[in-house]
Amino acid sequence: MIRTEKLTRTFGEVVAVKGLTFEVKEGEVFGFIGPNGAGKTTTARMLCCLINPSYGTAFVKGNEIGKDPDALNIRQIVGLLPEAPGLYERLSSYKNLDFFAQLYDVPTVKRRERIKKLLEMLGMWKRRDDSVNTFSKGMKQKIAISRALVHDPEILFLDEPTAGLDPRAAKTVRDFLFELKQEGRTIFLNTHNLDEAERLCDRVGIINTTLVEIGSPRELKSKFWDRTTVVHLKEVSSLIVDAVKALPFAQNVRTEDNKILIDLKHPEDENSAVADAIIRSGGKIQFISELEHTLEEVYLELVGG
Ligand SMILES: Nc1ncnc2c1ncn2[C@@H]1O[C@H](COP(=O)(O)OP(=O)(O)OP(=O)(O)O)[C@@H](O)[C@H]1O
Ligand SMILES: [Mg+2]
Repeated sequence: MIRTEKLTRTFGEVVAVKGLTFEVKEGEVFGFIGPNGAGKTTTARMLCCLINPSYGTAFVKGNEIGKDPDALNIRQIVGLLPEAPGLYERLSSYKNLDFFAQLYDVPTVKRRERIKKLLEMLGMWKRRDDSVNTFSKGMKQKIAISRALVHDPEILFLDEPTAGLDPRAAKTVRDFLFELKQEGRTIFLNTHNLDEAERLCDRVGIINTTLVEIGSPRELKSKFWDRTTVVHLKEVSSLIVDAVKALPFAQNVRTEDNKILIDLKHPEDENSAVADAIIRSGGKIQFISELEHTLEEVYLELVGG
């Protein structure tokens, strides 16, 4: 759906983005994470044809960025939630959305339907006639998200959609993104919220001017850590530990209080043999769980603290 080739952008002396080559598949939620100034916004703006690349190129559904008439097609296909909502403050939320929908030539009846649906989904329908300057930051964000979707784009670019939202509003927006994901929409998400990225994204790219890593959250974690099974026991004994150590696939067997931790390559296949060995040597199992590493840990490994 999106394919970049050595995509590069400079601003004078500043290299904002350098040599990005990656793909985003149709229906995928793709997350872009990286420190401030890493080039996330610049990349999104290039892919939405708001600015041109300095070198390299990208294709959005087969259309090349920065080339007419391709760029016009791209603008029809994509919706962008920019970093700043940029709404008409003195117009009502409904009129803001209606105005943007008209720019995209959405027919009158469709416009009304879509605006109603979006405002209802985000809990803003009751405030449709209030002017935007009476809204809180989170409410404005919801209107801006609706605006990005009002022409029913195939690809949605979201630049930090939940930044500055209260936990409840952030959850409303996240739930909404889940719904869009279920609909099969392709979503490109810039975020600093690594927990959000981990929950929503099929794959993430870690960017720091250049692309540092790309993959599913699980793939990225497995580059750094084996998977670890944690068995909570009523009591740990050396007999039990030795029985686990004797399993040929069990690596780095260690204990912590009343827990045994075992690194495994294929825990789904190997956990039951671990449990068997423990039970046969008299162990009383309370819980078996997986030690979860987080995307945040991966990020800190790659980009530093
Ligand atoms: N219009 C511009 N003029 C000059 N420099 C710019 C412009 N836009 C971006 N830059 C520079 O490009 C680099 C990347 O900025 P960008 O906004 O893409 O980063 P980001 O990853 O979105 O950061 P943040 O997480 O803070 O939003 C920065 O060094 C920034 O100063
Ligand atoms: Mg940014």
